[in-house]
Amino acid sequence: MKIVSPSVLSLDFSEMKTQLKRVEVAGAKWLHFDVMDGHFVPNISFGPGILKQVDHVSDLLMDVHLMISDPVQYFDAFIDAGADAITIHAECFDDVMDGIAAVKDLKKRGVKAGITLKPGTDISLIVPYLKHVDIVLVMSVEPGFGGQAFMPEMLERIKEVDAFRQSNNYEYLISVDGGINDETGIRARSAGADILVAGSYVFSDDIEKAVISLL
Ligand code: DX5
Ligand code: ZN
Repeated sequence: MKIVSPSVLSLDFSEMKTQLKRVEVAGAKWLHFDVMDGHFVPNISFGPGILKQVDHVSDLLMDVHLMISDPVQYFDAFIDAGADAITIHAECFDDVMDGIAAVKDLKKRGVKAGITLKPGTDISLIVPYLKHVDIVLVMSVEPGFGGQAFMPEMLERIKEVDAFRQSNNYEYLISVDGGINDETGIRARSAGADILVAGSYVFSDDIEKAVISLL
């Protein structure tokens, strides 16, 4: 599957409506919404209030990435605000069973559930989640900031997650987040990625051209 999920982190909010329309017309189906709490990651972004406003003016699927220490506490708020997919970090759960319960809870409420991990976290941490999730997000930069360089060693991780999917007949989508442009996007796709998340590449210049180049 080929999906592009432009990241709101790099959107020009003074042109929000126009830019959202432009990514949609260019063929993006999802919109990536990076939530940061200044604790799980060193940066602060936006919360459910902004998501609600964005959701109001856009028909895109709201793909929420929670980079916050206590994601479960905020499920209600983000679902009420229009989240269609919520991806949580495996590092947030001391007990993996709590993380799996969180994933099941999202699915029960009709929201797509995603699991992710920081580049330096061992992949074994997400293995118990793989039979339950709809999305596996491979972070290809250290979470916290847009505009960083793609970590090529994460291509191996995409391949591993893809191989695991094939050998187990699982159906999750593989998403890649961080440093995606026309060149790294092609490499990520050939490693097995379905969803390309891109912020600075999409919003810094010709929006339509950038989105199309990732499809
Ligand atoms: C980083 C975020 C990314 C970010 C990607 O913590 O998870 O979604 O917006 O930005 P670019 O595409 O600029 O690397
Ligand atoms: Zn993200």
